[in-house]
Amino acid sequence: MTDPFYLTTPLYYVNARPHIGHAYTNILCDTFARWKRLRGADVFFLTGTDEHGTKIEKAAKAEAKDPRAYVDAMVPQFKELWTILGIDYDYFIRTTDESHKKTVAFILRDLEVRGEIYKATYAGWYCTPCESFWTELQLKGDRCPDCQREVQQLSEDNYFFKLSKYQEWLIQYIEAHPDFIRPEIRRNEILGFLREPLEDLCITRPRARLSWGIDYPNSKDHVVYVWFDALINYVSATGYGREGEKSKAAWPADLHVVGKDILRQHAVYWPIMLKACGLEMPRTVLAHGWWTMSGTKVSKSRGNAVDPIELVKKYGVDAFRYFLLHEVTIGNDGAFSEDLLGERYTTDLANDLGNLWFRIMTMLQKYFDGKIPAFENRYLENELLKKSFDLLARVSVTMEGYDPRTALSQIFEVITRANQYVEEKKPWVLAKDPVQKGVLAETLFVLTEAMAHAAVLLQAFIPGTSAKVLDRLGIQGAGLLGSSAGFAKPLVPEGRVIERGEALFPRLDEPAPKDAGV
Ligand code: MSP
Repeated sequence: MTDPFYLTTPLYYVNARPHIGHAYTNILCDTFARWKRLRGADVFFLTGTDEHGTKIEKAAKAEAKDPRAYVDAMVPQFKELWTILGIDYDYFIRTTDESHKKTVAFILRDLEVRGEIYKATYAGWYCTPCESFWTELQLKGDRCPDCQREVQQLSEDNYFFKLSKYQEWLIQYIEAHPDFIRPEIRRNEILGFLREPLEDLCITRPRARLSWGIDYPNSKDHVVYVWFDALINYVSATGYGREGEKSKAAWPADLHVVGKDILRQHAVYWPIMLKACGLEMPRTVLAHGWWTMSGTKVSKSRGNAVDPIELVKKYGVDAFRYFLLHEVTIGNDGAFSEDLLGERYTTDLANDLGNLWFRIMTMLQKYFDGKIPAFENRYLENELLKKSFDLLARVSVTMEGYDPRTALSQIFEVITRANQYVEEKKPWVLAKDPVQKGVLAETLFVLTEAMAHAAVLLQAFIPGTSAKVLDRLGIQGAGLLGSSAGFAKPLVPEGRVIERGEALFPRLDEPAPKDAGV
């Protein structure tokens, strides 16, 4: 039996085109999903769209569209971007799916039966963009404490979910499970938030004020609060609450990847909802930081959104993926600039990786007719070969800790070392001396193996480039990461004639790569 691994992205609001922030979350998840698959896990990777609530209703109105027609027109833009970015998800869930609505209704009825929901009058302040209620005390200078925008005063009858009842339980759970909220700085933030008394959660909106939502099962006058509806997607994708339906996903999720702005919903509301339903906790909620431009969060409403499709057209999908994965440590914010992306492209991808490939292949062609030289001791004592064979062990530990940035650095360390090795060994000098033919063969063998091992590992991060290299080398990459024994050995078939092919990362002033993905 292979190990199941269930991971999720947040569901994206469809009130605007996806931007670099959304692309980042999905690229992270895709990298984890690919990595786990390569390691032999039976992965279920869920993504989708969050389609109810005031934000969406307003956006539809602005285009004079019925909300349903509006969301139906927006969803393909997300799917198209995920295809361009190579996001290999297993299931795309929409909160307007009938199946999802059934699970939401099931959970609400169940929570009512369990005595976890009550009706009351709410009087206080409301932030429409955040869809959040605030008490007078929570406001910051008359404004929303989260987004600093204006709030409105409200008084209305609603249904409430008993969050406060589980506050102590949640604190203890988080304290007993260090891996539940990551990274640590975010875990401490949530524990800090939980030091203040938790208010019960208002889980409905009066239909008179908002009609675009899932019907509340026991009241014609209410729809379900968009966050309560959306969080449930993670179990509705497993078929929960729908007798007889089968899904490949099985609860609990192993990993929820979210941005730091939506951690509270995932690390406070969601665990309590699950606990109240008698469901297991997800293993890890991983919160990443924000991409910023000139110091502020990239977002459509701030008007500084960066279009990922434009960047992919210019730099290729793998350069974009590499940049996002490599530039920041998960949890920290990253300052986006196109100059920086261009710099990374040139230094790491074109000069280090692309150039290493070019040099090895040029030398193989020149000295060995493009063939990996026949070679007796393919397990020779050699520092670079050893480093290449050991690479899986190092990268595995790093990826178990969900740290793709360090993993990429570990892989690129081998690439850099291989480039230095070329300088040290000077194959062009060895080639002049027939006595050195064996040393020359050994050198090129070691270099090709370093390249091959790096490429096998890069499958999870920059799959297109990795596939090109592996294909040219005649290596089947899929099965090689299941065990260290399968990886720590020579991988390139002896005697194979290798095509150098076109440049992996052409210079930026040359025409865009043909397979840029768009
Ligand atoms: N619909 C909710 C999530 C519901 S999950 C059950 C939502 N949607 S969102 O479209 O506003 O944001 C989705 C994700 O994109 C969040 O994880 C958010 O952090 C991320 N990003 C949006 N802008 C971002 C940046 N500028 N940088 C990095 N990620 C950011 O919230």
